[in-house]
Amino acid sequence: MRVLSGIQPSGRLHLGNYFGAMRPQIAMQADHQCFYFIANYHALTSLNDHKLMEEYTRGVALGYLALGLDPAKTAFYRQTDVPEVCELSWILSCVTPMGLLQRCHSYKDKVAQGISPNHGLFCYPVLMAADILIVKSQLVPVGQDQKQHVEVAQDLQTKFNQGFNCEVLVRPEPLIKEEVAVIPGVDGRKMSKSYDNTIELFCPENQAKKRIMSMKTDSTPVEEPKDPGKCSVMALLKVMASPDEVTDWEDRYRQGGMGYGEVKKRLFELYKETLGEARQRHAELEKHPEEVERVLLDGARRAREVASETMREVRKVTGMVRGEGRQ
Ligand code: TRP
Repeated sequence: MRVLSGIQPSGRLHLGNYFGAMRPQIAMQADHQCFYFIANYHALTSLNDHKLMEEYTRGVALGYLALGLDPAKTAFYRQTDVPEVCELSWILSCVTPMGLLQRCHSYKDKVAQGISPNHGLFCYPVLMAADILIVKSQLVPVGQDQKQHVEVAQDLQTKFNQGFNCEVLVRPEPLIKEEVAVIPGVDGRKMSKSYDNTIELFCPENQAKKRIMSMKTDSTPVEEPKDPGKCSVMALLKVMASPDEVTDWEDRYRQGGMGYGEVKKRLFELYKETLGEARQRHAELEKHPEEVERVLLDGARRAREVASETMREVRKVTGMVRGEGRQ
C-alpha cells in the first residue's frame, strides 16, 4: 500500500502533533511504502515570514527524523522540491468546480474567523489533492479536520479520470485513526498552536516543565475526590503511561487526598521518559544540518521519480505534449 501525508511547517512541533499524527505515521513505515512531506506551499497561505518559515521547516524535518522516521524506508521531502506538484495542481484546478471549494469547512471557518482569504487558501484543497494524486497514494492518514480535503481529492480523481477518459489517477482513501484521543492542551482545549496551549516536543526541559506545572485544573481541594475523566493532566498522562499506571492514578483521583501537583510532576517525568531519546537525537541532528538536507533532497529525488511518471501520463491524456512527443 502506498501512503502519503503532509504536515504544514506553521509552528513548532508539540505533543498534539506527535501523538495525533507523527507517531501513527511513523509506525506505518514498517509495512507500507510511505511518502511524507513538509507542506511549505500550504503553510505559505498563512505565513509570510521567511525566518519563521525556515525555522519551522527545519523543525519539522529534524522532528520527524529524531522521532524515528527512517529515510531509507520513507521518502521524506519538502513539497517545494517536487515542482511537479504545482503543475498537477493547475491541471486539477481545471476540473474543480468552484462550489466544491466553497463548501470546504476549513476555508469557511477561516473566513468566519475574519481572515481575509487569499486565493491560495481557497484552492488549498486542490494543491493537497495534487500532493496525494501525484504519487498515486492509496491511503492518506490525516486528522478528522482534514477528512473533507481527502474527499475533495477523491472527487478530483474521479472528475479527472472521467473527464479525460483514462485511469491515470488512483483513488485515495482517508485513514482516520479513531482511537487517537484528542490531545488536550494546557488550558484543556484541543492542543493547537492557534490556542497557544501547546507543550512543545523539543523546547528546553525547564520550559516543558513550566508548561506542564501550569496546566489548568479545577479547584477541588486536595483531600476531596476528583473526576479523572474531567482532567486534562490525566488525559495527557493516559497517552504516555502504562495502562496499569493509568488505573492507579484513576483510583487515587477518586479516593481523594491527592493534589494535582503530584500528577503534573509525574506527567513531566513521563514526558522526559517518552521523548528523552528523541530529544537527544534532535540535539545531535541540529549539529548536522547538511545530513538533514541530504535526506530531504534524496527524498525529493525519489518522490520526483514517481511524480514525473504521473505527469508524463497526465500530459499525455490532456494533450499537453511537447512537439512530436507523444512518448
Ligand atoms: N492540510 C494538511 C494539514 O494541515 C497538510 C497537508 C498538505 C496534507 N498536503 C497534504 C495532509 C496531503 C495529507 C495529504 O494537516
